[in-house]
Amino acid sequence: MNFNLPVRPRRLRSHATLRRMVRETCLTPTDFIYPLFITHGEGIRQPIAAMPGIAQLSVDQAVAEVAEVVKLDIPSVILFGIPEEKDAVGLENFAADGIIQEATRALKRAYPQLMVITDVCLCEYTHHGHCGLIRGEEILNDETLEILQRVALSHARAGADIVAPSGMMDGMVGAIRTILDKHDFTNVTILSYAVKYASAFYGPFREAAGGAPKFGDRKSHQMDPANGREARREVALDLAEGADLIMVKPALAYLDIIRQTREQCDVPIAAYNVSGEYAMIKAAAANGWLNEQAAVLELLTSIKRAGADLILTYHAKDAAKWI
Ligand code: PBG
Repeated sequence: MNFNLPVRPRRLRSHATLRRMVRETCLTPTDFIYPLFITHGEGIRQPIAAMPGIAQLSVDQAVAEVAEVVKLDIPSVILFGIPEEKDAVGLENFAADGIIQEATRALKRAYPQLMVITDVCLCEYTHHGHCGLIRGEEILNDETLEILQRVALSHARAGADIVAPSGMMDGMVGAIRTILDKHDFTNVTILSYAVKYASAFYGPFREAAGGAPKFGDRKSHQMDPANGREARREVALDLAEGADLIMVKPALAYLDIIRQTREQCDVPIAAYNVSGEYAMIKAAAANGWLNEQAAVLELLTSIKRAGADLILTYHAKDAAKWI
């Protein structure tokens, strides 16, 4: 008995090979950027409690870790530094022998083809944990831009391929482009955290990188999760200032923003699958409540389907093995 249905969508799902042939979105390891937390010392692998599988690494251990990353065909890492000492300005942030500068030199020496991205922000380096210089409780914008210029320039001098300002200061992309060009680093690329929300999902990262604000919050510079139109303005501004790549962060609660940004512009878009998103999956999987592999691949596929070209994710190594 047959109802003579004119269209049967199930027909294309009726064979595994056919399903593979009509699949619209495919993940590849080249989609991924793997975050690394770099700490002083030697032989150090300090696990991060809320991020199972992720550790703070000393430079030698980071070099060893990246051997595996490269073998998995993941083309890029983003570096976050844990300084020896913190102060009001974050002096190590732009020191020639700072932790990120050392790590960048070591990684580029070991893996010339690896794209090394450096996070450019103040919060891990300042004793108050804020993303800018402060006066009283106010985060100063333009004074902070001068520091960001020094940081980005020192990263470029150490060999960074891509600098990624993440502090949501107005004018940060233009300020960094200006200083890089002035010093002939015209090919050093800017990945702007253009659309970064004041999110509860950064919790584990703040433990990992030791950059939690000592007072107040980040709502005076990061965006209100309620706002979508405002994301368009941030993207337009950063493009006008010379951003080469645009980031949306976090990823999962902001798939609509990734899609909107994809429709707004033609530059490649990166999405940051942040620490809290990682922690949720790891916790559920550890309890046997989710199939980790299936859940991770589904989420990463969703981020790509929404319009991201690149995904910063702590799942990168696992996902590269699974696909
Ligand atoms: C700031 C920065 C943060 C993250 C990346 N860069 C933390 C913050 O804004 O508080 C979060 C990344 C994550 O949660 O995985 N330098």
